[in-house]
Order: sequence, then structure tokens, then C-alpha cells
Amino acid sequence: SLIPAGTLLADKGNYSHFMAKEIHEQPEVVGRTVAHYVDLATGTVRLPEEVAIDFAAIDRLAIAACGTAYYAGIIAKYWFEQLARLPVEIDVASEFRYREPPLTGRGLALFISQSGETADTLASLRYAKAAGWPALAVVNVATSTIARESDVVAPTLAGPEIGVASTKAFTCQLAVLLALAIHAGRARGVLSAQEEQELVDALVGVPSHMTKVLARETQVEQVARDLAKARDVLYLGRGLSYALALEGALKLKELSYIHAEGYAAGELKHGPIALIDEAMPVIVLAPRDKVFEKTVSNVQEVAARGGRIILIGDAHAAGEAGLAGETAVVMPEVHPAVVPLLYALPVQLLSYHTARVMGKDVDQPRNLAKSVTVE
Ligand code: AGP
Repeated sequence: SLIPAGTLLADKGNYSHFMAKEIHEQPEVVGRTVAHYVDLATGTVRLPEEVAIDFAAIDRLAIAACGTAYYAGIIAKYWFEQLARLPVEIDVASEFRYREPPLTGRGLALFISQSGETADTLASLRYAKAAGWPALAVVNVATSTIARESDVVAPTLAGPEIGVASTKAFTCQLAVLLALAIHAGRARGVLSAQEEQELVDALVGVPSHMTKVLARETQVEQVARDLAKARDVLYLGRGLSYALALEGALKLKELSYIHAEGYAAGELKHGPIALIDEAMPVIVLAPRDKVFEKTVSNVQEVAARGGRIILIGDAHAAGEAGLAGETAVVMPEVHPAVVPLLYALPVQLLSYHTARVMGKDVDQPRNLAKSVTVE
């Protein structure tokens, strides 16, 4: 029978899962998304004309999203606040819609959603609109309900994401959000032209760094074999890597069904350090950023209590943390601002390979739907 016109002929190519294919598409689709928001000739952010936002005219940004998109929102909060000095509040959408935040003054509401159909995020959008705030949506489906009901849509160009666990949509969301934050920094007179150029260069360089990281997939596969035996896993990160620790834990939970928790590394001594023993792998995201030394001291606290550490950092990180010989996933050194886009890859690969080793249904994990269109 003829396939009806327009049917999405999604195929896995030579990958065994859609998720694997979508992880490996990231250099291409992130590159395509970045190119849509920057002027490569001048090394500046150039928003598409339909993405008309005057960040100089707002004093406050409220972000609401769910799951992985919410973690992209936390990273965006750090970027908007650091690069544009724009105060940001963020909620998971299921809380935002019932918390009834007072949306007064000159604010902008930002909603992040791959599907553009997530019920809680849509309800939050409608709450913000009813309160009189303009709504900006970062979505992957341009014809979605959230896209239609937003005032401004900043599209991600990830292409259809079939795997239930979000991967390429997440890094494309980050690319759009960083471009928006840089643009806001310029519009609000916080970033100089030179600082913008440096950040745009880092963003433009992400796809080639991603390719290098993906080429080291086998070192992650080794770690995944060990992780597959764990009952509990702890992810730690600081700053921009804090939200990645949360995302890493979510990916591991939703794909391998291993209980995992993401924590701010600085919070270890306020309780979670009681969990540390040799049975629980502790995955530490340790990029060379301004809190690297602090993260290293957290790692040493864990090691001193017999914890098993998996360090994700550059070639010297494990040595500097006194962990030579411990498990490490080696990452290229990149501009701290783009760390989340790069460090998302080992986090995704770790959860993918752990679930694969365990024989789980990677593309359709139990109990999960690709888009949660009900509350
Ligand atoms: C991501 O791996 C999860 N499948 C899930 O948390 C997802 O991010 C969340 O449901 C939000 O979906 P959306 O981006 O389509 O709104």
C-alpha cells in the first residue's frame, strides 16, 4: 500500500536506536541551529527577523518548562544573569501554573519545549499571557500549539526527535538560549563587541568539538558497563554544570531505571555525603571553569570516604584532583560558556550505553511518552 504523502519516514540509518542516531546528529543540527542565529561573517549574533525581542525593554525574565527542557532553562538562567545581568526566575511548568507568580512590571515569559505540546508548559504560557506578559517560546515543532500561542518563536532546528529521551533537541535549545543571552547582553550594554565575538566564536566552534567528543564514545561505553551494575548513582556539578548533573540523573533514570540523583556539588556536605560508599558511583562534571578548584575539592571529599568517582573533565582534571587511575571521560578544553553543550554528550552517551548494556528499551522507555500532553 502506498505510504500516505507526508508520512515521516524516520529511519535509524545504521544506528541500532533512534536515540543513538539523534546523539550523533548533534554536530550537524547544532551547527544548523547556530548558523540560524549568528552572522558568521561578522561573528555577531543576528536574530532572525521573526525573533524580534527588545531585551533592553524588560527587567525580568520568567522561565517555565518540564524535564530536560527545564534543565536547559536553568542553564539559560545562568547565561542571562551572567551575560546580560537580567534577573531570571525559573520554575518547572507544573509548579509555575499553580504557584500563580505575580507577573507585574516589564517582564518576558520564556517557554522551552521540544514538542510544543506539553500540557503544563502550555498552561503556563496561557497563565503568562492572561497576566499580560509577552511570551517567547523556544520550540522544535514550529506548528505546535505552544508555537502558535506564543508572541515570538525562536525555533530549534533539531529536526524530528523520535527517541523519547531528549538529546539533540536539548543541545539545540542550549544553542538558541545562549545566542539569545548574548544578544540580550549586547542590547543591555553589558557585553562589549569583543566579548560578543569571543562568545560567538565559542558557539560556532561547538559542532567540531562535539565531533571530537563523539569519536571517544568507546571510553564512555567502558564506563557504562560499570554503571550498569549500580543500584544508585550520584551526579555532581557546579555552576553551569549543576543543571547538567540534574539532566544526567534524569537521563540515567528514564533510560536504565537506575535510581540517580543530580546535586549541586557544593551541597555534598549538607547531607548527601552520608550516602557515599564504594557501591555508589559518583559522576562529577568538572570542566575548567571558575569553580573548577571547588569541584576538585568536592571530588577529594568523596574519594576520602571511599566513593567511586567517574570524572568528566579535561585531560589534566583527574591528575589535578589526585585521581590518576580513577575513571575519567576526557573532554576537550572549551570556553566555559559552551561547556553545557559539550558536556551534554558524555551524559547522554553514558545513559544510552548503560541502558543498552542492560537490555532496556532505549527508544521507548517504560511508562514514558514523547510528549506529555496531559497533566
Ligand atoms: C526528556 O528526556 C524527557 N523525555 C522529558 O523530560 C521531556 O524533556 C519533557 O517531557 C519536556 O518535553 P517537551 O520538551 O516536549 O516540552
